[in-house]
Amino acid sequence: MSGDLLQDLFSLEGRVALVTGASSGIGRELAVGLVRAGARVALGGRSAERQAATRAAILERGGVAEVFPGDLGDVEVGQALARDVRAHFGQIAILINCAGMNQREPIAEVQSETYERLLAVNLRAPFFLRSHFTASIGRAVTPKMWVDPGL
Ligand SMILES: NC(=O)c1ccc[n+]([C@@H]2O[C@H](COP(=O)([O-])OP(=O)(O)OC[C@H]3O[C@@H](n4cnc5c(N)ncnc54)[C@H](OP(=O)(O)O)[C@@H]3O)[C@@H](O)[C@H]2O)c1
Repeated sequence: MSGDLLQDLFSLEGRVALVTGASSGIGRELAVGLVRAGARVALGGRSAERQAATRAAILERGGVAEVFPGDLGDVEVGQALARDVRAHFGQIAILINCAGMNQREPIAEVQSETYERLLAVNLRAPFFLRSHFTASIGRAVTPKMWVDPGL
């Protein structure tokens, strides 16, 4: 398959992606990959310094990226992230929820604060970020949460 055909079929030219957890690891590589496919990217994560390094790697490749540091364990930070990304880039087409934490402790030693934080970062933040961008990401892939009244 020629490069042009691949580009025609899979180009993300004109699309904006938000990648949380883009300051390291999988999120960083996904952000760079999305830019290689033509997208502009908003970068999330706590460390402004490491996000800036991801952004620098993207700019070096001629891509467009902006950093939006913040701790997604805080619900208001998630709201601000959605607002700030929209203000900077307009609507996004792609959301990659890659920010996550893993606390490796024996179950008997896990404190409720740790448990709450795990849920906040790994579950609540992706859920509400997705809901903030429902209109722009599209109804066709909108996940639904069902509460069965029969249960
Ligand atoms: N690597 C694996 O083999 C593997 C396997 C299964 C699942 N996963 C999951 O895939 C995701 C990425 O893994 P990874 O290996 O790339 O991990 P990583 O290098 O530790 O990256 C985690 C990313 O999440 C961000 N993050 C963590 N807590 C955050 C918070 N409270 N608010 C905002 N951002 C936060 C980190 O940013 P800062 O450091 O700047 O805060 C970092 O950019 C994680 O959710 C991980 O659990 C990974």
